[in-house]
Amino acid sequence: MDPAIDASLVSVESVSDSLSSTGYLPDAAIATIVFLAARLNKPLLVEGPAGVGKTELARSLAAMTGRQLIRLQCYEGVDESKVLYEWNYRKQLLRIQAEQGQNWDQLSGDIFSEEFLLERPVLQAVRSDAPTVLLIDEIDKLDMEAEALLLEVLSEWQVTIPEMGTMRAVTTPLVILTSNDSRELSEALKRRCLYLHLDYPDLEREKAIVLQRVPELPETLAEQIVKVVQSIRELELKKAPSIAETLDWARTLLHLNVTTLDPETLQRTLSVLLKFRSDLSRAEQHLDLGD
Ligand SMILES: Nc1ncnc2c1ncn2[C@@H]1O[C@H](COP(=O)(O)OP(=O)(O)O)[C@@H](O)[C@H]1O
Ligand SMILES: [Mg+2]
Repeated sequence: MDPAIDASLVSVESVSDSLSSTGYLPDAAIATIVFLAARLNKPLLVEGPAGVGKTELARSLAAMTGRQLIRLQCYEGVDESKVLYEWNYRKQLLRIQAEQGQNWDQLSGDIFSEEFLLERPVLQAVRSDAPTVLLIDEIDKLDMEAEALLLEVLSEWQVTIPEMGTMRAVTTPLVILTSNDSRELSEALKRRCLYLHLDYPDLEREKAIVLQRVPELPETLAEQIVKVVQSIRELELKKAPSIAETLDWARTLLHLNVTTLDPETLQRTLSVLLKFRSDLSRAEQHLDLGD
């Protein structure tokens, strides 16, 4: 670890303070596991429902350490050429056309070189001179093949490009992998990572998060908002409101100049929190907003 840059990672307390100063309010479990991941040089797998602060944790980690954030957004069909590298075929083709008649051995040495290499996020992190934060977001959307590819890099910290040789990481990135739990990840991947399950925060922390992110909000209203959200989460819903929705709701109420939550305002704005008809009617019943 570079001591100048990563002073924020020297203890659990300093991780906690540094995250807070970026606007991200961690609990003890978050601060502890981030500290350990940095200390043990292990990737951190963060699992949990949408909107609980998985992606933001990586962003805040980059902000607090002053490291560059390199992000691989996963989706179905992502393969080696999106994870590691691909060749710039257009440029290669142009070179081949321009050098017609040249000896092929010479030419292929030419066109499979740095100048024609398109680095993708994982290779970029491996080759970066300065330490980085590598965010591999929503890894559960990858197929098993692409997951296996990552596995190799995450344990060896090296990438082999047949035409150019093996490249070893100069500095180990801080790696955050996130998963929405849409499928089980492989045992092998889990074994290489530290694990954090992020869930909805308790009332106190959620209120603090709301006040942190929407500082114009009166404290009493923040408290009311969070109490309603937390009671709605107790219901059996298709999609419980996350921190993201709590924040949206807080901003909505601010725009409507609401100072205290009454049943009519609740009724009018509930759809900011809940996006399914059945969830809405269940919450209305629960909150006793029926006509
Ligand atoms: N601990 C926290 N402190 C401050 N803001 C948070 C915290 N957790 C989540 N948020 C906010 O909640 C929203 C959703 O977070 P995000 O990281 O996008 O969720 P996820 O990646 O889990 O779907 C963002 O606006 C983020 O800033
Ligand atoms: Mg996310």
